[in-house]
Amino acid sequence: MDAAGGGVSRVDTVVDAFHAAVGEAPEGVWQAPGRVNLLGEHTDYNEGFVLPVAIDLSCLAAARRRDDGVLHVRSVQHGAGQPLPLDDLDPHRIPGWSGYAAGTAWALQQQGIELSGADVVVSSDVPSGAGLSSSAALECSVGLALAELAGARVDPTALALAGQRAEVEVVGAPVGVMDQMVSMHGRAGSAILLDCRSLEVRRVPLHLAEAGLQLVVIDTRVTHAHASGGYAARRAACEQAAELLGVRALRDVTLEDVEGAADVLGDERLRRARHVVTENARVLALADALTRGELAPLGGLLAAGHASLREDFEVSCPELDAAVDAALAAGAVAARMTGGGFGGSVVAIVPAAQVDRVRARCRSAAAAAGFSQPVVRGVQAAPGAARLR
Ligand code: GLA
Repeated sequence: MDAAGGGVSRVDTVVDAFHAAVGEAPEGVWQAPGRVNLLGEHTDYNEGFVLPVAIDLSCLAAARRRDDGVLHVRSVQHGAGQPLPLDDLDPHRIPGWSGYAAGTAWALQQQGIELSGADVVVSSDVPSGAGLSSSAALECSVGLALAELAGARVDPTALALAGQRAEVEVVGAPVGVMDQMVSMHGRAGSAILLDCRSLEVRRVPLHLAEAGLQLVVIDTRVTHAHASGGYAARRAACEQAAELLGVRALRDVTLEDVEGAADVLGDERLRRARHVVTENARVLALADALTRGELAPLGGLLAAGHASLREDFEVSCPELDAAVDAALAAGAVAARMTGGGFGGSVVAIVPAAQVDRVRARCRSAAAAAGFSQPVVRGVQAAPGAARLR
């Protein structure tokens, strides 16, 4: 592993793939990580708080300028995207997976950054559809490569906003800004506390290894897509609740406001809003505890977060619930679903000596229930996007 957390062999592989596709060496290789969210789910688009961790699964982008103004993105995993003229990028006509990459190029240009043409070859080990932000890793690695090749000064938050805009306006997934922000601002050994209204970022150190603990991701292999119904419906319900409560976003209400407006909101919107309000409070409580070096509150806060997502926000599923239960039964000190839900992954904090036991228990529980076999990985808190070469 090199200092930035990318495997040397992965860099060599993407450089070789670039050579094979383009016939020349890349000018550089950039990397952006996926993430696991410790706490703060469906709070980002409500202008609330999130506590994600950038992880050592990432997208690499090898890139070289072209002088004809054409952007050509290829993926080692997904094949070649269509060559697209940068001076005439129509966001509604960027096809397939290249919407994330070329869409970010489009959004950067909308911010006034003049991009040159480029050949880009990407290679990612962030599993897609697993709730680990493979799309943000793609957007941020390609966006950073293109901006740096064009000699632009790169503001990490502006780049994160460009990636989010690509996803919302080009791909059609109405996501918040958490994933791109942590992919840009992640810090080794740390979570980041993000205020999704001010976009202020605070590093929150995770002293897990010192306590003999390991961050673990349990991928249920139930894939989700945020461009489809459930995510958008939850977001719409939150926006309606805010409007009925007379505020700009659910960030601005208290639990008393929500419960006092039961008649106006109706049962479903009340539960959606209650999740957001209680989740924001849990994020701030956990960030404070971790900042003081206290790990004890992890178990209770993640359990309450999972229950709230299952009961009030209704974005969990039987596979996620089973993985949480199995991890806790096998010795995890904390576990909950992570990401948007409807499938994807569970995040767990596990004594290092119990990781194999957690893996075995999750797999046997899934087999007994007739679910797909989950993939259980130990992950490290990694730095945000950077140039590797
Ligand atoms: C997805 C979105 C994020 C966030 C989470 C839920 O990962 O991309 O913006 O809304 O779901 O917390």
